[in-house]
Amino acid sequence: MNNFAYNFINKQNMTITIAIASDHGGFEMKSFIKQKLIDKGYEVADYGTNSNESVDYPDYIHPLAKAINDGKYLRGIILCGSGNGAQMTANKYANVRAGLAWNKEQALLIRQHNNANILSLPGRFVDFDVAWEMVEAFLGTDFEGGRHALRVSKIADIN
Ligand code: RB5
Repeated sequence: MNNFAYNFINKQNMTITIAIASDHGGFEMKSFIKQKLIDKGYEVADYGTNSNESVDYPDYIHPLAKAINDGKYLRGIILCGSGNGAQMTANKYANVRAGLAWNKEQALLIRQHNNANILSLPGRFVDFDVAWEMVEAFLGTDFEGGRHALRVSKIADIN
């Protein structure tokens, strides 16, 4: 497998399955990303939706976020029209850090600075090639740790 992102995640010897979910607003982009991931050698766990028919994004994002929260997958990709509702839903889970990105630099930063385990994409606002750049950045970038580790640990301090 000659793929940087695959090599990065696989150094932990874990199954490389990327979980993905969207509502209708992200369905076409989800289909595109799913096929690209398969072409690159990833396994994909597709939590739906499976058409352009209008649905409620929490119905599809909750099951994926629960699976990430429970440690079933290392990385997830979620989409809705804006990326906001999907991100808000996923971030209800204690072990989830879902970051919204609109460009490659933001997708890098949610890994480097925030140790995000879910990437949220705005299916109606970015081009497919930009979306794929973001997926590659998200999967291929490590957490920097250091000062960011303390900050990330403080996210859970809601006392
Ligand atoms: C659906 O119309 C839209 O509201 C949804 O995809 C998302 O953008 C919500 O945050």
